[in-house]
Amino acid sequence: MNVRIAPSILAGDFARLAEEAEAMRLAGADELHVDVMDGHFVPNLTIGPCVVESLRRSTQLPLDVHLMISQPEKYAEAFLDAGADILTFHIEATDLQKAAVLLESIRERGRKAGLALSPPTSIEAVVPLLGSVDRLLVMTVHPGFGGQSFMSEVLSKVERAREVRPQLEIEVDGGLNPDTAHQAGACGANVIVAGTSVFGAADPAQAIAAIRSGTRAGLDSRQQRTQP
Ligand code: DX5
Ligand code: ZN
Repeated sequence: MNVRIAPSILAGDFARLAEEAEAMRLAGADELHVDVMDGHFVPNLTIGPCVVESLRRSTQLPLDVHLMISQPEKYAEAFLDAGADILTFHIEATDLQKAAVLLESIRERGRKAGLALSPPTSIEAVVPLLGSVDRLLVMTVHPGFGGQSFMSEVLSKVERAREVRPQLEIEVDGGLNPDTAHQAGACGANVIVAGTSVFGAADPAQAIAAIRSGTRAGLDSRQQRTQP
């Protein structure tokens, strides 16, 4: 299974977004994770579509846009127009029916459709939608802020999703470093978001490489455990 590392620009310097994105590309990132917060679904406020549009013009990295906003169906189009390659919204911000329509409309635009789960939300709530998503995002912290501690108790959701959909891209977000990435990989996660541990590292390339090898080792251990 392909491992992808997505540094979160939330931990970067917002006055130098283009340089930060380029630094992440040179450091070996596979995508750039962009956290959109509306001060309503989460208490924090970050960026809107115009910033995503500027980022789109500034980097060749795929943009992994994580909407932590209420009424995602109202704003999804603007983020797709701005150039989001992967657009992920929270199930807690909508309902199953609206989510199904939104996932389909993201895919119709030729982008990847992602569905996110906050820590208290059960995986069973979204099992009916897993056939319609390109990526499941299992939050490993409460959404809203960078720099929080990893919640290993949510990894059972990753295990369950991996059982239901063996080929699904499963992303984890919050508190990821080489050690927690190993734990996440061992449960079946293959896309790792990392803010503080990459942007705060003296050598981001080394940090990305270490997270990648931690995830890979975790996935390999899972494969040995689950294969007869
Ligand atoms: C949290 C965001 C995360 C955050 C991760 O609400 O969704 O993407 O930037 O930051 P770290 O890696 O510092 O926990
Ligand atoms: Zn995020």
